[in-house]
Amino acid sequence: MTATAPKLEVQTPAGRNELPPHLDENLLTPRFYTTEFDKAAKTDLEIARKDFEAIFKEMEADYNLKHFDRKASLDRLQELSPKDKAIYESYLVRSVVSEFSGFLLFKEISNRFKKSGRTELGQFFTFLARDEARHAGFLGRALKSEGINVDLPNLGKKRAATFFPLSWVLYSLYLSEKIGYWRYILINRHLKAHPEKACAPLFDFFEPWCQDENRHGDCINLMMRCWPGMTKGFRGKMLSRFFLWTVFLTHTLTVCERGDFYELLGIDPELFDEEVIIQTNNTSRNAFPWVYNFEDGRFLQMRTEILSAFRKWRKSSGIAKPVALSKFISLIIRQFALPMQKTDAVRYV
Ligand SMILES: [Fe+2]
Ligand SMILES: [Fe+2]
Repeated sequence: MTATAPKLEVQTPAGRNELPPHLDENLLTPRFYTTEFDKAAKTDLEIARKDFEAIFKEMEADYNLKHFDRKASLDRLQELSPKDKAIYESYLVRSVVSEFSGFLLFKEISNRFKKSGRTELGQFFTFLARDEARHAGFLGRALKSEGINVDLPNLGKKRAATFFPLSWVLYSLYLSEKIGYWRYILINRHLKAHPEKACAPLFDFFEPWCQDENRHGDCINLMMRCWPGMTKGFRGKMLSRFFLWTVFLTHTLTVCERGDFYELLGIDPELFDEEVIIQTNNTSRNAFPWVYNFEDGRFLQMRTEILSAFRKWRKSSGIAKPVALSKFISLIIRQFALPMQKTDAVRYV
């Protein structure tokens, strides 16, 4: 997940094909995934038939069909300084890649289900792909208005896809949808309280947008329930631990290393990261058999120490560098092993 990705190609007004420095990627760039499609086609929907039909109808209703089509005025963007504009553009590019990678995966899962004769599951994932394509398209339009064209159709072809077993894909998808929900809703709540900080029309669309991500998380939760073995016993505990830890660690490093975007909106990146982690851990009680225990404060305290060790490592040189790196690694391993709490998510199975 953390291998260096090939360069993303964009066309800027100057006609360059390479990314300008503020749009450059690093280790934290989203990746594309592939999975055990044949196994996925054996999903036993009967385990959660009633709930599947309810959520299928909800997805079919397509509540946000017209939401992203509104033509918002771009006047506010003109007021941004070149530096702030660069921060905003960089956020747009990262987001468009992330939304588009979701689209590609959902579309592929949908096609494989249809090919295996699982029509209703195929349609279910078409709804998910539809939403992500809409999100990516909307971000693509926002970039276009900045004079930047991201070559989305070719993006998937240029990047190597990473293979994950089905259980890994479902755990990580659930978390990425729910963490996405919390990120959008917390930004939205903040900007409602501080409208003068909503520097781009994009933010006016966040509320129904985050409801899409929330529903996607519920769809993936339903898929997990159709595979009871994934949430049982030691395997369920290890998968919960590994994915919560990985997603939270990646979020902390991404948000705090890219703090300038949050500062532009008047948000403290470290407080934002902490709140997103607390809420996502809590929400995961609905799907995962175990979540981290935040009651004693150790996980979040260690997160602060990890962040400072990471920064020290980045700044250090010479002999100090491996020392700082080993401190960082020992902290993240200790955080991984912190106590967890059993949830009642497995009550469904
Ligand atoms: Fe999305
Ligand atoms: Fe989503």
